[in-house]
Amino acid sequence: MSTPGGLIRLDVHLTDADADAALRTDVARGLVARPKELPPKWFYDARGSELFERITELPEYYPFRTERALLADSVADIARSSGADTVVELGSGSSTKTRLLLDAFSGAGTLTRYVPQDVSESALRGAIDVLHRDYPELVVHGVVGDFTTDLDRLPGADPGGKRMIAFLGGTVGNLLPGPRHEFLTHVRSVLAPGEQLLLGTGLVTDPAVMVPAYDDAAGVTAEFNRNVLLVLNRELGANFDINAFSHVAVWEAEHEWIEMRLRAVRDLHVSVRALDLDVSFLAGEEMVTEISAKFRPEVIDEMVTAAGFVPSRRWTDPDDRFALSLVTAV
Ligand code: AVJ
Repeated sequence: MSTPGGLIRLDVHLTDADADAALRTDVARGLVARPKELPPKWFYDARGSELFERITELPEYYPFRTERALLADSVADIARSSGADTVVELGSGSSTKTRLLLDAFSGAGTLTRYVPQDVSESALRGAIDVLHRDYPELVVHGVVGDFTTDLDRLPGADPGGKRMIAFLGGTVGNLLPGPRHEFLTHVRSVLAPGEQLLLGTGLVTDPAVMVPAYDDAAGVTAEFNRNVLLVLNRELGANFDINAFSHVAVWEAEHEWIEMRLRAVRDLHVSVRALDLDVSFLAGEEMVTEISAKFRPEVIDEMVTAAGFVPSRRWTDPDDRFALSLVTAV
């Protein structure tokens, strides 16, 4: 994809075959683990992405709109504090947040380039077209890739310029502590000293607020959770009866994360044809499908410092439910 002015570019580092191989590895490992587990990245096929969009509109799901409002209120300040000429957005799905960033960084007068990264090539192609139309001066350089493995392929800083990597949505909380540290260290390693990371994180708040956000009355999150089984049925020839699993969301106080699980409501046997794998579930057995860690401000600072950043600024919403932290590579 390119234009006469050379303003648009799309690099594809992740093919369907790569994604299929990664799915097989994750499922082969996860279904024999105790407890069984499936990584949350496999929620997001077309139906899963649609269900996630519906989640963001639920009255109980405060993280999305809280971050969006916080970003709207603080983004001019963030752009002034940052001064980056290149904004890289990891998992660039949500376009309203992208526009807030682009408008503010353009307004600050520094922005020349936007680098959206996503696993979905089709989503990225669509986004790039629209952004090119609406920001005709901006270089838009899309990167199709997985944020945990393809960071090394991000375009470098322009001469004399600096990049800010935005990782929003609280998605860093979907990583376990070990992989989370590895991820942040990896982000640090692709940056030069002085370049920045803008990190969106849910904050620890009242469990009576957090739990319903992951267990809504309309059952959309339950459908989203069960959808991963449909992905396995379609992609790997598995035969999960999705009605045999109920949705569980609990606040794990000792870890400070919400844990989503799928609970087998009866004994069952499942075969996964593409992996030549048979697995059994006992009635009541729970498989972990997602953790969504919430943070305390001091834990955010410890976590980014351990990865080689210094905390620069933080913005939080009036109810202290979400934080945007701007941190600088040292
Ligand atoms: C926005 C991807 C981080 O953990 O809140 C929403 C996904 N899972 N409901 C989150 C999600 C269940 C989510 N992320």
